[in-house]
Amino acid sequence: MKINSICCLGAGYVGGPTMAMIAAKCPHITVTVCDMNQARIDAWNSDTLPVYEPGLKEIVEKSRGKNLHFTTDLKPSIAGADLIFVCVGTPTKSYGIGAGRAADLRYIESAARLIAEVSEGNKIIVEKSTIPVKTATAIQSIIAANNSSNATFQVLSNPEFLAEGTAVTDMENPDRILIGGEQTPEGREALEALVAVYENWVPRERIITTNLWSSELSKLVANAFLAQRISSINSISALCEATGADVDEVSRAIGTDSRIGPKFLKSSVGFGGSCFQKDLLNLVYLCESFNLHEPAAYWRSVVTMNDWQKSRFVEKIVRTLFNTVNGKRIAILGFAFKKDTNDTRESAAINICRDLIAENAQVVIYDPRVPFATIQRDLLEVGVSQQLIDSNVEIAADPYAAAKGAHALATLTEWDEFRDLDLPKIHELMLKPAFVFDGRAILPAEALAKHGFEAFIIGKG
Ligand code: UDX
Repeated sequence: MKINSICCLGAGYVGGPTMAMIAAKCPHITVTVCDMNQARIDAWNSDTLPVYEPGLKEIVEKSRGKNLHFTTDLKPSIAGADLIFVCVGTPTKSYGIGAGRAADLRYIESAARLIAEVSEGNKIIVEKSTIPVKTATAIQSIIAANNSSNATFQVLSNPEFLAEGTAVTDMENPDRILIGGEQTPEGREALEALVAVYENWVPRERIITTNLWSSELSKLVANAFLAQRISSINSISALCEATGADVDEVSRAIGTDSRIGPKFLKSSVGFGGSCFQKDLLNLVYLCESFNLHEPAAYWRSVVTMNDWQKSRFVEKIVRTLFNTVNGKRIAILGFAFKKDTNDTRESAAINICRDLIAENAQVVIYDPRVPFATIQRDLLEVGVSQQLIDSNVEIAADPYAAAKGAHALATLTEWDEFRDLDLPKIHELMLKPAFVFDGRAILPAEALAKHGFEAFIIGKG
């Protein structure tokens, strides 16, 4: 089975970049990315892509209009494809059974129904969306029940491990590609067809093949382990502050143990992003549904720790500012959940700003990539009223405008440009004492002290 034509349902953070990479590496394959959202498709077809990722524009422009197409015309794209990637959203359910924990699979379901409706011949369906275990089986049964023609389907699981901000390099040079398939002759044939696509640029030994459920579960477990490392080091950051230790020194000391390794040991205001919390909650839900209460509680504690890290940061600010931030200007540097992305999903900054606004602070936000509309939407979603947004939230054009007249300044995202701020200038612009709360430990501690700031740096005693 040779793949000549690929269709992708969902033009978001996963679908868009992944398909752009496949198109760039496989000029002989036609790749069509579909989405029902016309504005998003228009953006992919324009100079201003809907996703900001270093290097993404270049690879999109390389193939767009040649073997890479973006369209809202779903049906013909599905009908013409040998292989269909499902990259639709799987948000946490906000209603009914499993609300707040389980994944909402309605977009996956409608994708499966649409595929069944318009397909003929042999099709391979690849689930790439982050999903709970056994979604592939659900896709299979929806398709089997709705298959009106004599089309045949193979469902594969191919979880995405790219991290935002480094998506292009992650995809270009992945640690591994994971593909799960059914252990039948047809399943193995489909699996090899997808392996052949990736082999255009990924060495075969880095392509791991497993059964369907192992593949689906591995995605949840990978994210749970990564998030657990951050919660572990964040728990230690509080202890470092209490004891006078330095969390970065502890990270360096333990990270040189080759069994532990140096990555994902950077203490922060708490992890964000579309995956970690959602996948942890999915894992918890999965454990609970098999009556595995202790494993469920164990993984839930990773989320609890993360929530605590965010709220204790706000508490630290309020206590330090003489127990009140009422009417005080707090400059917020960074709103994205990490640097080099315009994505704010689950960003620690959202809860931190919400809680500061609840204390009646005036928050003045600067982020180099996140527009006001996004910040406003995020704050509305966590219950901040439009009235409070109008009265208590300001957007600044740069860090200096944010610092002007501020009682305190907090760094929440580790954007590189914050590492070399003109500290004397910031100090002069701020009210005195000039308080700094560095939630990412990116500012130079000695220079802050030298220039007269009262600085709190996460994890530093
Ligand atoms: C993550 C996984 O890394 C990726 O493999 C998966 O496909 C999707 O989820 P992503 O959410 O894009 O990727 O970013 P990641 O770099 O993992 O960062 C997640 C959060 O953890 C960010 O808020 C980041 O600032 C935070 N983080 C990361 C830390 O606080 N400390 C660290 O040491 C690393």
